[in-house]
Amino acid sequence: MQRLKLNHADLTFSRLVYGVWRLADDTNHSVDHVRSKIDAALAEGITTFDHADIYGNYECEALFGKALAADTALRNKMEIVTKCDICLTSDKHPQRRVGFYDTSAAYINQQVEASLRNLHTDHIDTLLIHRPDPLMDAAETGATLDALIDSGKIRTAGVSNFIADDWRLLQAHMKHKLVINQIELSVLKRDSFINGDLSALQLDGINTMAWSPLAGGRLFGSDDDAQRVRPLLTKAAEAYGGRIDLAAFAWLLKHPANILPVVGTNNIDRIRDLGDALQIEMDRHIWFEIFVAAAGQGMP
Ligand SMILES: NC(=O)c1ccc[n+]([C@@H]2O[C@H](COP(=O)([O-])OP(=O)(O)OC[C@H]3O[C@@H](n4cnc5c(N)ncnc54)[C@H](OP(=O)(O)O)[C@@H]3O)[C@@H](O)[C@H]2O)c1
Repeated sequence: MQRLKLNHADLTFSRLVYGVWRLADDTNHSVDHVRSKIDAALAEGITTFDHADIYGNYECEALFGKALAADTALRNKMEIVTKCDICLTSDKHPQRRVGFYDTSAAYINQQVEASLRNLHTDHIDTLLIHRPDPLMDAAETGATLDALIDSGKIRTAGVSNFIADDWRLLQAHMKHKLVINQIELSVLKRDSFINGDLSALQLDGINTMAWSPLAGGRLFGSDDDAQRVRPLLTKAAEAYGGRIDLAAFAWLLKHPANILPVVGTNNIDRIRDLGDALQIEMDRHIWFEIFVAAAGQGMP
C-alpha cells in the first residue's frame, strides 16, 4: 500500500483509510470481531483509521478501543483520526432539544479527553473539526487546537466539510497548520472536482480525505447515475474481478490532489484486496467516461 506524507506534518497515512462510522451497525460487537476487521485492514497496508466521537451513537470509539486495550502493541501499528463538534440528539444527551455544533474550548477539550479514554491511547494523530460551526469563535477554536497539539494530546489538527473561507478563517488564528479537510467525494458526488474546492485545498497544501467514496453504498443501488456508471467501473476493474468498489477508489486516487479515500465497508471479504485499487489503471479517457456517465451529460 502506498503511503502519503502529509504536506504540513511529519505524519504519513496509508493511501486508503478505513472508516469506522458503521462499526456498531454490525451485529457482532465482540472484541475478536472488531480485531479481525482491524487485522484485515492492516493486512492490506491500511494503517489509518477514521473515527468520530459521535459514531455509533457515541459508541464506536469505545468498541474499537477495546481491541486496542486488549493488545497494547496494536496502537503503534496505526494512525488514528477522530473528530468532534457535532452534538447529536441522543439518549446519551437527553437535555439536547436539537442537534448542533460546538467548537468552544471547553467542548473540544472535553471530547478529546473522552476520545483518548475510549480509544485507550495517549494521543490522537489528527483531530478534525467535524462540521463548520456557524458560532465558531475562530480565535478560541484555533488556540484550543494549537494548545492540544503543543500538549501532545493530538499530533495534528484539521477540518471536515469545510469550504475555503471557513478553513482559512480558522487557520488565520492558528500557529500550527491545518493538515486535512475530509469532504464527501465520489463518482456520484463530484462538485468539488469542478467548483474550486480541490484547487483551494491544493493551494493551501491541505491534504484531502474523501468520505463515502462509494456514495455510502448508493453506487450499488437503483439510482440512474449509479446504474449508468457501474458497467464502466466493472470494466475498469476487469483484471481485479470486476470489483466496482476498487474502480471507484481508483477513480478518486487518479486525481492529482492525492485524495485519501475513507472506505466504510463492514464486510471483511470486501476489506480483503482493497489494495488492488492502487493497481487499477485509470487513464484520462476512462476517468472522463465515468465522469460523463455519472453526470448523464457530456463535458461542456
Ligand atoms: N466527515 C464526515 O462528515 C463523514 C461522513 C460520513 C462518513 N465519514 C467517514 O467515511 C467513512 C466511509 O463512509 P461510508 O461508510 O459511507 O463509505 P462508502 O464506502 O461510500 O459506503 C460504505 C457502504 O457501502 C456498502 N458497500 C460497499 N461495497 C459494497 C458492495 N460491493 N455491494 C453493496 N454494498 C457495498 C457497505 O456495505 P457493507 O458494509 O455491507 O460492505 C456500506 O454500507 C466512514 O466510516 C467515516 O469514517 C465521514
